[in-house]
This record gives sequence, structure tokens and C-alpha cells, in this order.
Amino acid sequence: PTTAIIVVAAGSGTRLGAVAPKAFVGIDEHTVLRHALDGVFAAQVAQVVVVAPSGHEGDAETELLAAAGDRRDLGRVVTGGGTRQQSVAAGLAALWGDITTVLVHDAARALTPPAQIDAVAVAVTVDAGVIPAIAVIDTLKRVEGDDVVAAVDRSELAAAQTPQGFPRALLEAAYAAASASGIEYTDDAALFAAAGHPVRHIAGSERAFKITTPGDLARARQILDVRAE
Ligand code: C5P
Repeated sequence: PTTAIIVVAAGSGTRLGAVAPKAFVGIDEHTVLRHALDGVFAAQVAQVVVVAPSGHEGDAETELLAAAGDRRDLGRVVTGGGTRQQSVAAGLAALWGDITTVLVHDAARALTPPAQIDAVAVAVTVDAGVIPAIAVIDTLKRVEGDDVVAAVDRSELAAAQTPQGFPRALLEAAYAAASASGIEYTDDAALFAAAGHPVRHIAGSERAFKITTPGDLARARQILDVRAE
């Protein structure tokens, strides 16, 4: 199978409280997007589509070229949409050639190990999707307003990460059905499952956490051992 990866980087990152869109915030001397793309190019992928925030396509191109080195012909940049689902759809529409497996990856999971990307790609089958997931550590409660309604059995739960991998033809059909229905799904696995297809999970990793808040950015800097000035 030939694998493409769509790296969605078109979010505004308002919860990070930075001026630039999240993908262009620096972790060390490199941005969130550059770190994500370094991981992607260290994995076995034949095609890389970066979905950039409108107005930042040139910045995304710069990061893509830096990460790709002499493999720049494997990559292209497209403009994202107002929701993550629309951004993924834009990435799907930009695939070219004989791709059979599509991975969808959050740029915000900038420190995802390349081995996790490869493990997801390998686990995709002709009819089933695959997500990396990790055990839930916190004790979870179902709440209604101020009331705690019930405890949730965390052994039945897992925290989903990316990349999420799918057979291309079924994912494209599932996206077409989703856009026709007008439903916004939580993630690609939910959208794919809504079209009637099975989704399996493999082991994710702590390093694939999503950089969302200033605390997450601090954690990424700590992992990379960035010294405060
Ligand atoms: O907002 P959140 O952190 O859940 O976004 C997950 C990923 O989806 C991020 O990498 C973000 O850049 C991307 N995204 C996107 N287009 C949007 C919203 C989010 O590409 N409209």
C-alpha cells in the first residue's frame, strides 16, 4: 500500500493564547509545524499534504521545504477550512496519484514518534480504520450542571490520538457522506465509523499529546530540554 499523510495545521490556537496560529508557535528554535513535519518525514510516507490556515500558506510551504529536504516533491500545501473536518476534506481533495492508505494527523501533536505513524499505517486494512490510543489516567465522572451523575468505568475508555489511518476509498466516501449530512464529527474515526466501517486501536504514546494550552507548550519544551533564556 502507498501511504499519504494529511497534516492538519489550520487551527487558530486560541487556547494557546499566542498571536500566531498554533502551528507557527515556536517550541524551541523550530515551530510546532516544523516538529510535526520532521516526525512525518522520518516515517514511511509517500505523500505529505499540509493543510494551512488561510493567509499562512507561504509559511507552511517554508516549513514543509525545511522538513522535506531533497524530498520536497512528496509534499504540497493547501488551504484549510473553518472546522477541522473541512480542513481534512481539503487535504483529501489534494491527494494525487495511486495512494491507497490515508493517515490524518494533527500538527498540534508535534512530538509524535515516527514509529507511531508507521505502526498506524501498517495496521490499516482494506476495510478497517486504525487509531492510536492510550489508557485514561484520571477518574472520570458523568456530570449534569453541578451534579455528579455517575462514575464512568475507565477500563472501557481510551484517549484517542493521531495519526488516524484509513483505506483511502472508504475514507473519501465517508467524508462525502458526512458533508452531505451536515454532521460535524469529533474525529476522523467517528466519521469513518458513522459510515458503517470498523475502527481498531493500537498503542499510542505519551509523546503524541496535543499541544493545546500554554501548559502543553511548556511540557513540549521540557521534553526537548529547552532552556529558559
Ligand atoms: O483545535 P484542535 O487542537 O482540536 O485541533 C486539532 C488539529 O486540527 C490541529 O492541528 C489544528 O491545526 C487542526 N485544525 C485545522 N482546521 C481547523 C481546526 C483545527 O486544521 N479549522
